[in-house]
Amino acid sequence: MKLQQCLAASLCLTGTAAINLTVSSSGGNASSPLMYGLMFEDINNAGDGGVYAELIKNRAFQSSPAFPATLIPWEGVGSTVISLNNASVPLSSALPVSLHVTGNSSTLGISNPGYWGIDVRPQTYTGSFYVLGDYHGFFTASLVSDISNKTLATTKIHSKSVSGAWAQHNYTLIPTAAASNSNNSLVITFNSLGLGAAGSLDFNLISLFPPTYNDRPNGMRPDLMKAMKNLNPSFLRIPGGNNLEGLNPPYRWVWNQTIGPLKDRPGYQGTWNYEQTNGLGVVEFLNWCVDLGVEPVWAIWSGLWLSKQVVSKADLAPYVQDAMNELEFIMGDTSTTYGALRASLGYPEPWILKYIEVGNEDNVNSGQSTYQSYRLSMFYDAIKAVYPDMIIMSSTSNVEYAASAEDYHQYTRPDQFATEFGFFDNYPVSHPTLVGEYATIQYNDGNLAHGANWTSPKAPLPFWIGSVAEAIFTLGIERNQDKIIGASYAPMMQNMNSFEWTPDMIQFAADTSLTTYSTSYHVIQLLSNTRTTTVLPVKSDTAFNSTDVGMAYWVTGSNAESYIAKFAIYNTTGGADVPFSISFPTTSTTASLTYLTADDPYASNAFGGANVVQTTTVDLTAGGNGTFVFSLPQWSVAVLKTS
Ligand SMILES: *[C@@H]1O[C@H](CO)[C@@H](O)[C@H](O)[C@H]1NC(C)=O
Ligand SMILES: *[C@@H]1O[C@H](CO)[C@@H](O)[C@H](O)[C@H]1NC(C)=O
Ligand SMILES: *[C@@H]1O[C@H](CO)[C@@H](O)[C@H](O)[C@H]1NC(C)=O
Ligand SMILES: *[C@@H]1O[C@H](CO)[C@@H](O)[C@H](O)[C@H]1NC(C)=O
Ligand SMILES: *[C@@H]1O[C@H](CO)[C@@H](O)[C@H](O)[C@H]1NC(C)=O
Ligand SMILES: *[C@@H]1O[C@H](CO)[C@@H](O)[C@H](O)[C@H]1NC(C)=O
Ligand SMILES: *[C@@H]1O[C@H](CO)[C@@H](O)[C@H](O)[C@H]1NC(C)=O
Ligand SMILES: *[C@@H]1O[C@H](CO)[C@@H](O)[C@H](O)[C@H]1NC(C)=O
Ligand SMILES: *[C@@H]1O[C@H](CO)[C@@H](O)[C@H](O)[C@H]1NC(C)=O
Ligand SMILES: *[C@@H]1O[C@H](CO)[C@@H](O)[C@H](O)[C@H]1NC(C)=O
Ligand SMILES: *[C@@H]1O[C@H](CO)[C@@H](O)[C@H](O)[C@H]1NC(C)=O
Ligand SMILES: *[C@@H]1O[C@H](CO)[C@@H](O)[C@H](O)[C@H]1NC(C)=O
Repeated sequence: MKLQQCLAASLCLTGTAAINLTVSSSGGNASSPLMYGLMFEDINNAGDGGVYAELIKNRAFQSSPAFPATLIPWEGVGSTVISLNNASVPLSSALPVSLHVTGNSSTLGISNPGYWGIDVRPQTYTGSFYVLGDYHGFFTASLVSDISNKTLATTKIHSKSVSGAWAQHNYTLIPTAAASNSNNSLVITFNSLGLGAAGSLDFNLISLFPPTYNDRPNGMRPDLMKAMKNLNPSFLRIPGGNNLEGLNPPYRWVWNQTIGPLKDRPGYQGTWNYEQTNGLGVVEFLNWCVDLGVEPVWAIWSGLWLSKQVVSKADLAPYVQDAMNELEFIMGDTSTTYGALRASLGYPEPWILKYIEVGNEDNVNSGQSTYQSYRLSMFYDAIKAVYPDMIIMSSTSNVEYAASAEDYHQYTRPDQFATEFGFFDNYPVSHPTLVGEYATIQYNDGNLAHGANWTSPKAPLPFWIGSVAEAIFTLGIERNQDKIIGASYAPMMQNMNSFEWTPDMIQFAADTSLTTYSTSYHVIQLLSNTRTTTVLPVKSDTAFNSTDVGMAYWVTGSNAESYIAKFAIYNTTGGADVPFSISFPTTSTTASLTYLTADDPYASNAFGGANVVQTTTVDLTAGGNGTFVFSLPQWSVAVLKTS
């Protein structure tokens, strides 16, 4: 419920009269078990160079018309001459271009500075590279500081290279101490005296991983996985939004190019201004869900490119079949064609999907009419026929079909989020909704009716009143959890060395010690870690009005241990604290109140800087009448939990 007051001064409380709340024990609605989750899009180098732990940038010279094969950021050591080469024997049909290395000095070699640096710590790094050419002797692989030239770790690898065939060389590097910063490179050298007549070698798929989360091969960066895990998420929407769709034909996320050995993954022309390696593929995405303990919300390509090109009804059937093959790869038993393919890759046990989303934002890019008339229904019917219990989502709240669920996205300004506390109150229960993307992206412009202005600059980082406004919106979602599948902030991650979109929930760079949780992250963490299983009605002594910007917002509920009330306090009259008195249907007389504040309503968590969000926890004891009495400051988000 929301207090009707604030911007109109005459409606505002002046500070002393408490808002009196009485929580009922009956009339509650069951909550969605999924409420808070995550959305992944490989934007801002969030996958390659981000959560996907590969340290070597451009490890396999993958290319597409928009992103031709490049040597960047590789360099030859000393006078070594390097070039791109289509060797007569390619490493694989997926990876035809290799790094040709030659020169006249005795030591030849290559170096790579990683994705804007390599994080070096005393731990075991696992690497591999392939070589084509005749070479007797050994290779030396090292981690070297770019600044001091100091060798931080080194190892010798006996050559298996022979002319005419590619040979894989595995290696490990174990630094004895942490580097002082991440300006480090991988350097691989060899002795030219050991070369055969050709006087050169070709290298490809030159890889190096730090320890990964749960020690998964080809796995994920532990610090970013922990950042996600600490949010206590319940779902992960994968494998992406715009990046799934692709910019224009034929470029898009193609599931069967993302499975199997890395040398068989060609990569693809990503949507966000860089080539995607496809190192992060179907299996890695699903292991990511297993490791976080979350439900995948799995998106399938729906026949629309961002260029507005769309697959006609007559031509769509093979794409529907391809999606069914993909789902069989994920869920089929080993007697099925694609289930057997999965088993052959080391995963005999199928994964289970409960949620599938057909496409991404199919209402935009001129997609709505075809989505409405045939695309959604063709995918829906095919999936439902094989997986009758599947919850199938349309990618927009504008188009529904049969019992489809839907995905609603909202990017706006703080004041408008504050007016949307009641947005889902009258939403139909027949089409459960995922709020698959939401974020405050711009500052207020003084006009309550204004949403995002897509031609105006976006905020560089989440900022405190924007995060409080998101809390108002998500408390409104929690209040309607019976018809909401869940909510996820987007985008999730920002690589500070290369990004296309702000603001984002988590900031990172190569140096894992700099990973920064935004103000919005802290709000989500508080709300997500205090889930309710039932939303309970609450009576207040003030009227409810869901359309104006108010001052104080709340939702009440319970779980097996506690009664819970959550609050978001927006712009109060004169900046006054808001006094509350609340009673729960319990005999428990103690509770704990945790609230988040920031000194400056516009404060952001600067990358690598101090956390501006202050967390205060106080223990409360109920008065003789069974009520808890407390005040909350302006611009705060709070959770009260009975013991
Ligand atoms: C809340 O209850 C107290 C005590 O009965 C009363 O003084 C106060 O006016 C009430 N608040 C409002 C807003 O009615
Ligand atoms: C490799 O082959 C492709 C396709 O024929 C060609 O476009 C490219 O220029 C070649 N690259 C080099 C380095 O020869
Ligand atoms: C190596 O030296 C020879 C003879 O001086 C020269 O022709 C050739 O260009 C040199 N090669 C490289 C890669 O520098
Ligand atoms: C260290 O690496 C960062 C990120 O690439 C770069 O911005 C910075 O200039 C580097 N510092 C030095 C001293 O090379
Ligand atoms: C590191 O090596 C580079 C290239 O040889 C050289 O230019 C630079 O001066 C060296 N730096 C230090 C600190 O020795
Ligand atoms: C290198 O390691 C990978 C992964 O453990 C393994 O599959 C492969 O056989 C190894 N290659 C060689 C040449 O030892
Ligand atoms: C992927 O699937 C498509 C459509 O079924 C098929 O044409 C293609 O050959 C497959 N690619 C691979 C690498 O298996
Ligand atoms: C959106 O922003 C642009 C650029 O700042 C401005 O010209 C335009 O008037 C704004 N539109 C609205 C509806 O405010
Ligand atoms: C429970 O759901 C119904 C139907 O959506 C709604 O009218 C009612 O307000 C909800 N109750 C609570 C406590 O949210
Ligand atoms: C709710 O607030 C809006 C904006 O202040 C106002 O126009 C509307 O009349 C109010 N509705 C009710 C039911 O009080
Ligand atoms: C709070 O509301 C007042 C009164 O409408 C307004 O002047 C002020 O700018 C608002 N503060 C913020 C940070 O939005
Ligand atoms: C309940 O008790 C608290 C603390 O003793 C007091 O402040 C409050 O006014 C009382 N509320 C009512 C409704 O009597």
